Parts: sequence; C-alpha cells; structure tokens
Amino acid sequence: MSLAVRAYSGFRATGLTGFLMSRILLTGGAGFIGSHICLKLLQTGHDLVVFDNLSNGHRDALPADTPFIEGDIRDSAALGKLLKSHDFSAVIHLAGLIEAGISVQDPASFYDVNVAGSVRLFEAMRATGVRRLVFSSSAAVYGAASASLLTEDEPVLPVNPYGRSKAMIEDILRDYAAVYGFSAIALRYFNAAGADPKGRAGERHDPETHLIPLGLMAATGQHSGMKIFGTDYDTKDGTCTRDYVHVDDVARAHVPALEYLFNQAGGVFEAVNIGTGRGYSVREVLECCRAVSGKSFPIDEAGPRAGDSPRLVASADKARKILNWQPEYPDLRDMVSHAWNFMQSSSDE
Ligand SMILES: NC(=O)c1ccc[n+]([C@@H]2O[C@H](COP(=O)([O-])OP(=O)(O)OC[C@H]3O[C@@H](n4cnc5c(N)ncnc54)[C@H](O)[C@@H]3O)[C@@H](O)[C@H]2O)c1
Repeated sequence: MSLAVRAYSGFRATGLTGFLMSRILLTGGAGFIGSHICLKLLQTGHDLVVFDNLSNGHRDALPADTPFIEGDIRDSAALGKLLKSHDFSAVIHLAGLIEAGISVQDPASFYDVNVAGSVRLFEAMRATGVRRLVFSSSAAVYGAASASLLTEDEPVLPVNPYGRSKAMIEDILRDYAAVYGFSAIALRYFNAAGADPKGRAGERHDPETHLIPLGLMAATGQHSGMKIFGTDYDTKDGTCTRDYVHVDDVARAHVPALEYLFNQAGGVFEAVNIGTGRGYSVREVLECCRAVSGKSFPIDEAGPRAGDSPRLVASADKARKILNWQPEYPDLRDMVSHAWNFMQSSSDE
C-alpha cells in the first residue's frame, strides 16, 4: 500500500503519513503572507481551507479554486461550524491586525482581534479536538532589544500593543500546550518582504507602511514624501537596521513547522525566529529601490520615532536546527526585484 493510501485510511492521522495528507485551516490566508503560504501548501499537496474576513486581504490573492470561507475569527459560531464540518489536522493562524503604529492609537482593536479572536479560535479547536497550531508571531515581541543577533532566549519585552498582543498569544499557547495538550509553534517573522518569484502573489496593503513597497511606490510617483526616521543611530550608516526575509522563504517555513508538530506527541510549545541573520539599513533598502526601479526619488530625513529599535536582526540557528529551514533568497536585491515585478505586473492589469 502506498504511503498516501495508508495515511488516508487512518482516522485522525498522526505522524509523518498524516502530515502528508493533512487538511489545514489557514486563517488570514487572503493577506500578504497568507496568500504565499497558500501557494506553498498547494504545491506540497496539502488540502486547505482559507478563513478570512477580507478586512485587509483580497479574495483574488488566492488561486481561484482555493476553498474559501469569509468570516471573522471573533465569531465563535462560525469557527465552531467550520471546524466541525472539516476534519482539520492543524491550523495556521495568521489572521489579525498588523500595524504597530495604529496599535498605539487604537490598542482595544488589537486586543479584541488579535488576542480575543485568537482565544476564540483556540477554544473552537479545543472543542473539536484539533490541537496542532502554527502561529504568526513577530520580531515585535523583542521590542527595543539591543543584542546584535536575537535568539529566542532574548527577553520578550514588546514596546507597543501590537507586539504585546503577539507576546500574550504566545503565553496563552504555552498554557494551552501545558494544560490541554496543544502542539504549537510560534514563528516570529522578522520583516517579510518581496513577492512570489513567479509573480502569482505579492504585497497589497492599504494603506502601505512597509519600507520596500513604499520605496518602490516613491519610484513610480505613487508615494511622495519618502522619509527616513532617525539618521543618528549607532548603526553602520546611522539609520535603523532590520532583517528582511523573503516572503517565499517565510511561507516555506510553514511546511517544516507543520511537519514538526506532526512529530510531537502533544503538549509542546516552541517559538522560532524566521529571519536571515543579516541586517540591511533603511538607507540601503531605499538605494536598492532606486537601483531596481532605475528611478531616483527624493528622501527626507526626519527625527527618530519613539519605540523604534536601532537594530532587529534574527539569529536563525533554531529554525535551521529544528525545522531544517534556511532562506533561499537572503539577498535584498531579490526581495526588491520580486516586489517590483509584482507591482509592475499588477499595474498593467
Ligand atoms: N508582514 C510582516 O512583515 C509580518 C511580520 C511579523 C509578523 N507578521 C504577522 O503575520 C500575519 C500576516 O501578516 P500580513 O503581512 O500577511 O498581514 P495582512 O494584513 O496582509 O494579512 C492578515 C489577514 O488577516 C485578515 N484578518 C484581519 N482580521 C481578521 C479577523 N478578525 N478575522 C478574520 N480575518 C482577519 C485580513 O483580512 C488579512 O487577509 C499577521 O498575524 C502579522 O501580525 C507579519
């Protein structure tokens, strides 16, 4: 009997065979990172259902025949119905609000959607016996950390409600693992960037606040007033340094993360950085946007923003060790080029 047939004949499959045949619930799958995860899961033969309220996502970011349910993670009844009607083996949970700056003005929405919404999802999972979860956490949990390479042992000291919401969800998952037997992995993404190398998906945030799309929009004249916040930091050129990680690499990390969970008996929580271990400064990123687009644009220099850490760069050792993951596109030029190609092809449509 083939591996796949044996797995299919199992009840709620466990172990590697179950992993190969697993059906995954992807919350927030219509967003930037979710649409790339969707491509990876389909490519690796997984069955999936996307659940998204489309508040910031796009139905057409997904391949046309992707099973899709429009709904809100705060809606316990909708989640209960969904989880009862499918035999999900695991959940990848991305749905949430993402703008750290907005979270400072409107913390209530972040705690409602990100924290309360996540608890409703975890409760619906508990009620239906689904206990494997990959959660989209963030480098924002490290706050204004100062280590040159951040390991997962660095203290979790977020500096805004967005980062706190991610840290709270991690704590909740630790408790759900210890008490309810969840197997959960929190992937702490650093700065996801770029677009699908084949041009099938890309970044479409509105309003856009991420540096690379803003730089490219400045190159096409769609964004004016490009600013660098802070030029006097103790970094190589005085501007903030961040770990940009290609969105295709971020998406690919979810496959070994799921596999890792299938190989656990239960009661496990791990936090794992998803970054490259290399930092690029704001100035380097904007120069790269100019080089890739072939267009110059004005850049203003402004004072530092409160709460911005000078440098946030991941140690990617744990991801290499426990997920056998490493980035295929660590070069900034690839990220900017793929983002540029996607932007150009979207504007042709
Ligand atoms: N983009 C990054 O660099 C980055 C870095 C670290 C962590 N993350 C995390 O990764 C996840 C995805 O980020 P993204 O950049 O793709 O963001 P995104 O806004 O493009 O995607 C989030 C998706 O969640 C959906 N959503 C929001 N609230 C919802 C709700 N109440 N119910 C159902 N769906 C809801 C949105 O419609 C959207 O499709 C988020 O959890 C984010 O915090 C992103």
